Amino acid sequence: MEHTPRRVLVANWKMHKTCVDAIDFLEVFIPQLPSLPADVEIVIAAPFTALAAMRGRLGVNHRIKLGAQNVHPQPSGAYTGEISIPMLQELGVTHVIVGHSERRLYAHETDADINAKTRALLAADLTPIIAVGESSDERDALHTIERVVSQTRGALHGLIREAVERTILAYEPIWAIGTGRNCAVADAHAAMTAIRGSVDGLADVPILYGGSMKPENVREYLASQAINGGLVGGAALAPESFAEMIRHAA
Ligand code: 13P
Repeated sequence: MEHTPRRVLVANWKMHKTCVDAIDFLEVFIPQLPSLPADVEIVIAAPFTALAAMRGRLGVNHRIKLGAQNVHPQPSGAYTGEISIPMLQELGVTHVIVGHSERRLYAHETDADINAKTRALLAADLTPIIAVGESSDERDALHTIERVVSQTRGALHGLIREAVERTILAYEPIWAIGTGRNCAVADAHAAMTAIRGSVDGLADVPILYGGSMKPENVREYLASQAINGGLVGGAALAPESFAEMIRHAA
């Protein structure tokens, strides 16, 4: 089935960049925007601590959308160390990554946690960027499709179709993250087609690829009908490299 060719490139800075680093990035990146294709949506998922400074630099309604890398599903409460949706909204955050494999691994996040965060974000009119992906062992055991379908269904469990339509999905094979070991485009295509078909309402939702995506390979991925953009780690830390990827994404 044909779906909207919406292009989205998301920088996931992970635990990189202080406020000063983030502003330094923007000072080099912003002047390049006029030369970048206008139909590519640009999101930077920065550390919580850099968001206020970035919002100050970007102001409201900037082409660059601000993203967070995690959120707590409750609006407030006795949750030491956590950050709520109202706190992010105050900083102009519009997108939040949920279910990144590093959070599933190190913070033991479950599909139920990811579902709660996704529901809370959608209720607040924020866009969840839901990451799914199989481990190296799961891939070797030929469980990739089963794994990503079950993660997608878990994250979107109980949501009505109109809510599902407001999400963004990201397929990130864990073994390809930060390793330089790329997923073959045909394999990514197969996993992403399975993700799209797994839940009612995903037909037109952007599905991004993530895992060692860089300027040299972004075009190859985006040539696939199933791949609508990227969730980029290492190659989005330098403004020149992220801009180059957006240029190739047109
Ligand atoms: P790399 O682009 O560094 O492989 O990271 C991908 C990722 O995890 C983005 O969320």
